[in-house]
Amino acid sequence: MATQRTFSIIKPDATARNLTGKINAKFEEQGLRVVAQKRMRLSRLQAREFYIVHKDRPFYDELVEYMVSGPVVVQVLEGDNAVLKNREIMGATDPAKAAPGTIRKEFGVDVGQNSVHGSDSSENAATEIAFFFSGIEIVG
Ligand code: CMP
Repeated sequence: MATQRTFSIIKPDATARNLTGKINAKFEEQGLRVVAQKRMRLSRLQAREFYIVHKDRPFYDELVEYMVSGPVVVQVLEGDNAVLKNREIMGATDPAKAAPGTIRKEFGVDVGQNSVHGSDSSENAATEIAFFFSGIEIVG
């Protein structure tokens, strides 16, 4: 598998507990490189647009309010098979179902406050990266 990029968010529950470094260590130890990163407060509009695919889900409003409740760190991760590898490093969406050693198992609070977001396909990764970063901000 060739080098690939994926999009990641370190969510408010994790930034509140000062876990950015520990989460980045998981990525780096398992072969992903942080090639772009910025800490920001999402506006409600940005959060609604970013998660628009979930607009009809019962948890959409709760998800948006949570994502604007504190700082996030948005990132581009690069490596072999980065989309799938990141999903393995994150673990299952629900921390209670995540495998030992994964970010969500170690740090996640519940299915909403699950510490990280990661793209679920290379197509979505490209869309999500372009939502937050311009080309000159990504340095591989
Ligand atoms: P994420 O990978 O960011 O993509 C969508 C998010 O919706 C997901 O992680 C969860 O944090 C969140 N989510 C999924 N199911 C629920 C739920 N039942 N209640 C609240 N949030 C949810």
